[in-house]
Amino acid sequence: MATKLSVNINKIATLRNARGGNVPDLLKFASDCERYGAQGITVHPRPDERHIRYQDVIDLKPLLKTEFNIEGNPREQKFIDLVLKTKPAQVTLVPDVTGQITSNHGWDTITHKDYLKDVIALFKNVGIRTSIFVEANIKMIEVAKETNTDRIELYTESYAKEYPTSKEEAIAPFVIAANRANELGLGINAGHDLSLENLNYFAKNINGLLEVSIGHALISDAIYLGIENTIQLYLRQLKNIL
Ligand code: PXP
Repeated sequence: MATKLSVNINKIATLRNARGGNVPDLLKFASDCERYGAQGITVHPRPDERHIRYQDVIDLKPLLKTEFNIEGNPREQKFIDLVLKTKPAQVTLVPDVTGQITSNHGWDTITHKDYLKDVIALFKNVGIRTSIFVEANIKMIEVAKETNTDRIELYTESYAKEYPTSKEEAIAPFVIAANRANELGLGINAGHDLSLENLNYFAKNINGLLEVSIGHALISDAIYLGIENTIQLYLRQLKNIL
């Protein structure tokens, strides 16, 4: 079974919010990603709503035809209420602190086991699949199983960072982590700093990788890969005027 690509559209919301209007149109962008083959859409609303707003999440739900994945820290009651109201295919729980630029650590499942168990039950009871963001650490994954989560999302920043120096060393802890998750019957997602450069090697080496969610590199690539065509279109508007 091929790994699903879920496109994280936070950056599109950041760009829109910079001008206060509706350009680019986040809802159209999400639908177009699906039309172009994305198999899921990911959003990560944060309490300060600096990119995805809570209302965006509500507006996206009826439009989407693929898997909707909402990420966030369930410490905020507003986040829990939003997810329960929206009922996405999947909620990914992330231990972000307020104001953090981007996610930079996985759950300490040992310290937060009982808490995670409670919030996971809350979402699973209404049919929402759960995933929790964890590092490639066997102990954290073994305890993740005890929280009753359906899946884990492997935090891939360390892989991405080490990949240019030694892809073999970069992938090694993730192979071990994924093998243990598979033995335990946990589904495996992955994300953070995955890119055109490092994605294929990761997917080839991780058994049972169900989904990757990618934002920063994918949106940056879309700008580069689209800029040549866009400049031609603008130049055409300026031709033969005088
Ligand atoms: N997974 C989680 C939990 C994240 O917080 C993020 C970033 O919002 C991603 C995946 C995607 O990371 P990137 O933007 O580097 O592709």
